Amino acid sequence: VSSAQAAGAHRTVVTVAHRGASAYAPENTLAAVDAAADLGFAWVENDVQRTKDGELVVLHDTSLARTTNVEQVFPGRAPWNVADFTLAEIEKLDAGSWFGPKFTGERVPTLEDYMDTVEDNDQNLLLEIKSPELYPGIERQILKELREDGWLDRDHVKRRLVVQSFSADSVKKVHSLRPDIKTGFLGTPAAAELPKYAAFADQINPQYKSIDAGYVASVHKVKGPHGRPLEVFTWTIDDAANAVKAAGQGVNGIISNKPDVVRNALEKT
Ligand code: G3P
Ligand code: CA
Repeated sequence: VSSAQAAGAHRTVVTVAHRGASAYAPENTLAAVDAAADLGFAWVENDVQRTKDGELVVLHDTSLARTTNVEQVFPGRAPWNVADFTLAEIEKLDAGSWFGPKFTGERVPTLEDYMDTVEDNDQNLLLEIKSPELYPGIERQILKELREDGWLDRDHVKRRLVVQSFSADSVKKVHSLRPDIKTGFLGTPAAAELPKYAAFADQINPQYKSIDAGYVASVHKVKGPHGRPLEVFTWTIDDAANAVKAAGQGVNGIISNKPDVVRNALEKT
């Protein structure tokens, strides 16, 4: 490989802002989406769950406790699970001040508001269905919401949206409901199992410590449901050395809380 080729070898790695640019703004808030846009990142990742009254919201943990002031606003309602609060209650919470005073007043966004912001910023979304076993039917509900938000037209489905989950059953459901949508399975299935996953997932998205170049190559050898080689988007890398290493292993994407650090590292290689 010539040095010119080597220099270009990492250029096609997509960097995804994990929970938005979550090292610089509170994770999974609209401020984190905007922070990613301000840094020039076209892809954001989020986590979707459901409230007690059946509304879709963007939050990583099962509980509201770590990333909001729910313990102060609703003492006595431990463990403060999102599934035990109505949207009206969740809208009373501050999802920004835990991160820094500058973000006081940020809310837990509804999926609808989140999609509007991503659209306004002309960004793309890696949507994670978080803990779907807690929310029966959430796959169909998410697709309905996305359709209403204009995210299931041809253009969005073709190049702006990927739906992923740690639950193979959930990814399978999304694929069977809308086979045109790109999907990802979060995990590191054994190489021999990859053809099974390729029936319903376009991406295999592993934790970065669990892969090497041989594994990435074995994923790329298998074709996904849309006839293209499976892709690998790895997570969560926030330092230059591991970003360069993953790019060298051949991954298609790196999911990062510090996407600017990843970009700078890859530009230097
Ligand atoms: O997108 C991959 C990554 O988000 C999976 O882990 O726990 O951050 O949702 P987690
Ligand atoms: Ca996630």
